[in-house]
Amino acid sequence: MSVINSVLIENRIFPPAEALVERSTISGRVAYDALCQEAETDYSGYWARLAREHLTWKKEFTTSLDESRAPFYQWFADGTLNVSYNCLDRHVEAGLGDKLAIIFEADDGQLSRITYQQLLARVCQLANALRARGVKPGDRVLIYLPMSIEGVVAMQACARIGAIHSVVFGGFSAKSIHERIVDAGTVAVITADGQCRGGKRIPLKPAVDDAIAMGGCEMVHSVIVFQRTGDDCSMQAGRDVWWHDAVREQAQTCEPEWVGAEHPLFLLYTSGSTGKPKGVQHSSGGYLLHAALTMKWTFDIQADDVFWCTADIGWVTGHTYIAYGPLACGATQLMFEGVPTYPNAGRFWHMIQNHKVSVFYTAPTAIRSLIKAGEISPETHPKNYDLTSLRILGSVGEPINPDAWMWYYEQVGGSRCPIVDTFWQTETGGHMITPLPGVTPLVPGSCTLPFPGIQASVVDETGLELEWGKGGLLVVKKPWPSMIRTIYGDPQRYANSYFPADLGGNLYLAGDGAMRDPNTGYFTIMGRIDDVLNVAGHRMGTMEIESALASNPLVAEAAVVGRPDDVTGEAICAFVVLKQARPSGAEAAEIANQLRSWITKEIGPIAKPKDIRFGDNLPKTRSGKIMRRLLRSLAKNEDITQDVSTLENPGILDQLKQNA
Ligand code: WT7
Repeated sequence: MSVINSVLIENRIFPPAEALVERSTISGRVAYDALCQEAETDYSGYWARLAREHLTWKKEFTTSLDESRAPFYQWFADGTLNVSYNCLDRHVEAGLGDKLAIIFEADDGQLSRITYQQLLARVCQLANALRARGVKPGDRVLIYLPMSIEGVVAMQACARIGAIHSVVFGGFSAKSIHERIVDAGTVAVITADGQCRGGKRIPLKPAVDDAIAMGGCEMVHSVIVFQRTGDDCSMQAGRDVWWHDAVREQAQTCEPEWVGAEHPLFLLYTSGSTGKPKGVQHSSGGYLLHAALTMKWTFDIQADDVFWCTADIGWVTGHTYIAYGPLACGATQLMFEGVPTYPNAGRFWHMIQNHKVSVFYTAPTAIRSLIKAGEISPETHPKNYDLTSLRILGSVGEPINPDAWMWYYEQVGGSRCPIVDTFWQTETGGHMITPLPGVTPLVPGSCTLPFPGIQASVVDETGLELEWGKGGLLVVKKPWPSMIRTIYGDPQRYANSYFPADLGGNLYLAGDGAMRDPNTGYFTIMGRIDDVLNVAGHRMGTMEIESALASNPLVAEAAVVGRPDDVTGEAICAFVVLKQARPSGAEAAEIANQLRSWITKEIGPIAKPKDIRFGDNLPKTRSGKIMRRLLRSLAKNEDITQDVSTLENPGILDQLKQNA
């Protein structure tokens, strides 16, 4: 809550510099208001105009928004296009074939560069290889790759042949891969022998082998393996093939699969409030429109920019702002493998200086860890680098606290570059609430105003719009082109989670609390209202971690909550009841470590609890319900001031407290 308090008293305001307003595509508040007004007057026509102007269609659409099967909305449904054609061919055809598409810096600093023409050739070769192995339009392909040009090639190759990719972050376990293969009925996997992170080599292919061996994966007929580390790697004859062998004989041209605008482009699994991750399904046309549009308006991307989004392609940010958005705009982007703190905490600043990055997009967690690192090792502080190439800074994934915001603004941006604090989600496909660099006066800690055309609002539990100044539920009142289309295989869960009947069934429920400033209408995001945690900008379901813990043979019962953390925003805190007597001292530490390794195996290292506390029981009501709000207070080491009269076993509180 400290974030919210400091935002509430925030009164600094940073209007855009005149020069920036002038050069920006959306220039000044009048231009912003005109777009909002256009959307207000003719919503469907507004998006149709943009879809015609910003995308290249094989067959023009005649309908824009189709609400006839709400909440399964459709956009531009009778139009056809190909996403990879829009990201590659059209720039080559426009004479930009020799423009750099991607500058890639590996963990060891080694550089590779690829032009649009070369990228197109490589995408075509892999697309042909996938087709040759029998991958058809609509087939699901799982991608488990390190940050690499190949990662983008793999995603674009799927898009080219109309296959639906499902990228799994390299930090997820075999078990998680298995779950995603089975849920989506995956027919092919694209992976690598391993990846490099912070000077260490981490295998990837064995996790894919283990996942497939868990059973129920008979439909996986192909595993394509990119050689990254050169480490030994078992290859199953008939099923597995090296990437370089698969593409060797393939042509460098490949006729795109022209698909309907609603054809699914990808699935991306994310955590919700149940134990089972949901496969968020995105479309081709609407998704790509928003990817392109937000690149142009939020990042004001222009021909000579060097764009750098530090996210991993395993998250939605890496989908929209690495694999699709920058390419849809014909931009040059930087991409990196590794971590921000290796070889030292100056890596980001060094890369910005070396590659003359002009638009930089990262997460508050990274900023906070680099603030700390710069205090410990002053030589890694941004002031030691020439960062004058920067024009615009972006923040994503979690609330940015005003202190981190000010440091980012002054130390990285030289008090010259606006920070676009972009609020959005896996489900929204792209930015929803964000400043525009040539329009919006900035307030540290606020994501400010909706992207033109997005109808965001704050309502109460019955769906009634609240006046500014009152906290409530963040909703979107109208469907937008890049919205989630369904949860793969579970349309009912889609309808229930995002369009709940309590709110009337036609408001998109984001799952965050929010408040609008009484004077400016600026939005402040107040964090998740469900059992979803945000740890270092990664979304984690408490239920997912709980069920993983409960499946350990030592564990009788577990409850997981979040607590504030200086660097990662939130940290995972688990309360565990063992089948054996409550451990203490060295034994407790030993079992806690066993449980952490267990979570690493079950979900992945990102889900490891920071704190594990053991009790004889958990605080429960007389009807047996775990009182999570008490656990949240305990996790923060707060005094319990709440009403505990409904608690069946009040003595347990002292025990869980003492265990801190
Ligand atoms: C959740 C979505 C956005 C892509 C990466 C995360 C939180 C995201 C902000 C922001 C405050 C933010 C919300 C949201 N969130 N951006 N600028 N300010 N909170 O995508 O994993 O789907 O997580 O991240 O809680 O619901 P995601």
